[in-house]
Amino acid sequence: MSEKKADLTMEALASLCKRRGFIFQSSEIYGGINGFWDYGPLGVELKRNIKNAWWRAMVQDREDIVGLDSSIIMHPRVWEASGHASGFTDPMVDCKKCKGRWRADQLPETKCPQGGPHEFTEARMFNLMFETNVGPVKDASALAYLRPETAQGIFVQFGNILAIARQKVPFGIAQIGKAFRNEINPRNYTFRSREFEQMELEFFVKPGTDAQWHEYWVAERMKWYTTIGLPAEHLHQYVYKKEELAHYASACVDVMYDFPFGTQELEGIAARGDFDLRRHQEFSGKSMDYFDPETKEKFVPHVVEPSAGVDRIALALLCEAYREEWVPTEEVAGAQVLPAEPGKQPPQGFEARTVMRFAPSVAPVKVAVFPLLKNKPELVEKGRKVFDLLRKRWPAFWDATGAIGRRYRRQDEIGTPYGITIDFQTLEDDTVTLRDRDTMQQIRLKIGELAAKLEETL
Ligand code: GAP
Repeated sequence: MSEKKADLTMEALASLCKRRGFIFQSSEIYGGINGFWDYGPLGVELKRNIKNAWWRAMVQDREDIVGLDSSIIMHPRVWEASGHASGFTDPMVDCKKCKGRWRADQLPETKCPQGGPHEFTEARMFNLMFETNVGPVKDASALAYLRPETAQGIFVQFGNILAIARQKVPFGIAQIGKAFRNEINPRNYTFRSREFEQMELEFFVKPGTDAQWHEYWVAERMKWYTTIGLPAEHLHQYVYKKEELAHYASACVDVMYDFPFGTQELEGIAARGDFDLRRHQEFSGKSMDYFDPETKEKFVPHVVEPSAGVDRIALALLCEAYREEWVPTEEVAGAQVLPAEPGKQPPQGFEARTVMRFAPSVAPVKVAVFPLLKNKPELVEKGRKVFDLLRKRWPAFWDATGAIGRRYRRQDEIGTPYGITIDFQTLEDDTVTLRDRDTMQQIRLKIGELAAKLEETL
């Protein structure tokens, strides 16, 4: 794990996320509810940027993948067919003394708060699906589940989509949506939550081509992560050993990221054979056969499934972006930015800043506009014109109050790549200063040149 990651504490990140409106505890005024999170004004933009980037790469930029938005609650038979009703379980143990509850494969290393070691019960299997009732009567016939993955919605609509989408195998169906798991022990901030969003692709292939398509999707997905600003050196692959694979799977690779709490999964990419379609064929009695018009063969397609978590990717981007730095003031203008040393004051001539170095494509706000003084109407009026011009194209932020340095710092903390200042020279020659978040360099350019300049990187 890199030095930077080891230095970052989740407390510091969570504090920034709350202070700046990325992530709040759900129902905080009532003491919160474990495993549930709310995304504030900036968090929702960050997540939307992740989902848009995924949808563009997986659906809009391709001719062989179509989208779907299926319901969260489905017929309960779906979960019998998929195996979730009987097999989506984790082993759970309790401590008889302190009543703490854990997953049996994630036992605490700490002592029991009641003294001495914990006294664990035997492990019991616990189904992670949330149950609910459909309609007014709460009997067994009304039992339904909140989906624990979006994938099954795709499998059960395979026939309908095949009939209308004018696609031939190999082709895919993609979906983004909420999933729910009653995790025994939600932890590591938003990493393991009870409500989260998935971005899943089911890519249907001809039997026998599974391995080549699996390899293809692993390479594609690894590349995609670098396009949203996660560097290759912080990404890893975990290749499942034969004995770790589900009985129907022929391969599985997890995409892993170096979080401050360890290297952990962002996405799983599995070659699942024809297990899912065959099970739905068996349970529903509806054929899942595909007729190949070229070879005249009939077969149940096999599937390769890249399945990613939006919340985990958002958390990885937040961890990756977070920096505490010592930046030069005018006293030492031109000196290099230094990484902050934990617990120490910056040296003479430097000041501390926290900056979120998001890739511009995922930054919640792309550009901020600052009139130098808010009580000079001509500066404000000119500034509003620039702001109105830019916000038609990019999410922009208007900030007219406080010292200009303070306004820059606020934008640094939320990761805005560019700041534009309207000053007295603007009124004379129509030029503004454009400040780069990372280098803090400022250049002067004409208002008419701004959009083209920003387009180079945004
Ligand atoms: N359809 C396959 C499937 O659901 P999974 O590995 O259980 O596979 C896929 O989940 C992705 O969903 C994970 O890689 C992770 O990013 C995300 N995910 C799963 N459980 C999660 C949880 N409790 N909290 C946040 N994200 C989760």
